[in-house]
Amino acid sequence: MYMMPTELLRTEIPAIDTAYTLLLEKEDYSDVYPGMVRYVLSVLEGTVLRAVFRTNTYEYAPLSTLHAERIARARAEAWQESLRNDPQQFLVTHPLPRPRVFRYSSTDVVVLQGSPRGEGNSSILAEWTVKCAQDKGKTAQVLFPHDLDIHHCIGCYQCYNTGYCIYDDDMGMVISSLHDATLVVLCTPVYTMTVPAGLKLLMDRCQAYHAKRLLSQDTSTRRGLLFSVAGRTGLDNFSCLEATVHAYMRNLGIRPSGEVLVDGMDRVQDVRTIPSLREKVRDTIDKSLEP
Ligand SMILES: Cc1cc2nc3c(=O)[nH]c(=O)nc-3n(C[C@H](O)[C@H](O)[C@H](O)COP(=O)(O)O)c2cc1C
Repeated sequence: MYMMPTELLRTEIPAIDTAYTLLLEKEDYSDVYPGMVRYVLSVLEGTVLRAVFRTNTYEYAPLSTLHAERIARARAEAWQESLRNDPQQFLVTHPLPRPRVFRYSSTDVVVLQGSPRGEGNSSILAEWTVKCAQDKGKTAQVLFPHDLDIHHCIGCYQCYNTGYCIYDDDMGMVISSLHDATLVVLCTPVYTMTVPAGLKLLMDRCQAYHAKRLLSQDTSTRRGLLFSVAGRTGLDNFSCLEATVHAYMRNLGIRPSGEVLVDGMDRVQDVRTIPSLREKVRDTIDKSLEP
């Protein structure tokens, strides 16, 4: 839930022909993460934002000697002095962050294909999903994490300052695609009881999407499906993966709306040989595309 910011500091700095306001505000996000506070330091010319610095308490790990509020106040002092001395030079050396622009295609259905095997069973499930969506007049695309440039999440929590990750790689495109979709489908094998590494990278990096939703008060939702295959026999082989995928979905406003779990693949080898599986997948997708 959004809370009004608390003003910690406000200083007027007169300059030739104009005046600047240096403002330090504190925003409380403790309803999302216990103790999370974001500090926002702004330089305004009238109502126009000219420079900004943001930091939050979760950026500073237990062994760090740094502290968010102290950093923000120290920065405010330094900015005040620079602005007084030479405002023009200050503005040149503190440009506003440029908005990120991503090249991506917006589709109704986004499929995350988690297997590194491009010709495996998860790929077949992904292909079936796309066909079903298209038969329903929907657009669909498959994202293949193992083929994308995705740096692992380093847990810096800086995405909670801006809504964007510090790494500018293919995740911008992934997040924009997920945001625009009405249905997100994960097609994935079980690897060591959970999802394969490439898909896990993508899931962890969606933390920036969680941050973006929080900071922009975006409460939009979409539906999510899980189609999974496991080598061993028994539905207990999906328990960890299922919990992981559901936690991932809920974190991003994706409502888990159905699943098809296929065990015993070491014996079966090819999902296409399983009687009526394709129809089961189709039914699940059809239901999730209903209004
Ligand atoms: C590294 C690795 C780990 C796996 N771990 C599990 C597991 O924990 N439980 C399981 O039932 N199957 C496991 N499997 C088997 C796969 O889930 C199974 O082969 C699946 O059908 C592969 O899907 P794909 O054809 O989409 O690649 C593992 C396979 C690999 C390569």
